[in-house]
Amino acid sequence: MKTLAHLFERNLAWATAIKKEDPTFFSQLSNQQSPEYLWIGCSDSRVPANQIINLPPGEVFVHRNIANVVVHTDLNCLSVIQFAVDVLKVKHIIVCGHYGCGGIKASLENKDHGLIDNWLRHIKDVSRFNTEKLKGLSGDKKLDLLCELNVIEQVANVCNTTTVQSAWKNGSELSVHGWIYNIKNGILKDLDTCVTSNS
Ligand code: CO
Repeated sequence: MKTLAHLFERNLAWATAIKKEDPTFFSQLSNQQSPEYLWIGCSDSRVPANQIINLPPGEVFVHRNIANVVVHTDLNCLSVIQFAVDVLKVKHIIVCGHYGCGGIKASLENKDHGLIDNWLRHIKDVSRFNTEKLKGLSGDKKLDLLCELNVIEQVANVCNTTTVQSAWKNGSELSVHGWIYNIKNGILKDLDTCVTSNS
């Protein structure tokens, strides 16, 4: 049984509108992708990579998970990074968190969330690494600072992947950025943690 007909209608309208503006858009894009950016962001439905940076299909390679975490043993994320760097030759890896992140918030709660608590352990680690900075804070202040600190930690994790380390050793032009998005006003902020080499 075919369901969700309204989504297929929306898809057709979207593709038709793009083709009206540029009849060759999809045929050109079907030949190859050459995005300059890898986006590592949160799965949150309010933080869609392409829309936030206002870029069309073909411009951003995307990996998203809960709370934009880069774990050294996560083959999914590591494979995305390897493909983006080694094959697509992206110039920039952007780790983008967002204020008010539900995953970060859950990591601060002392209650049972089920399976996801295993994933949130990584964010609890970020809290532990930054105990001094978080001391005395509570509520949204603590949450939003941890959202920022998590981005900074994940930028370090991206930099420490074998893929990025090798790229830098081989002299590749590759920058790793840490950004945070404000879901209340749609504005991105650069956390000024850009790393471009090992030195
Ligand atoms: Co989130």
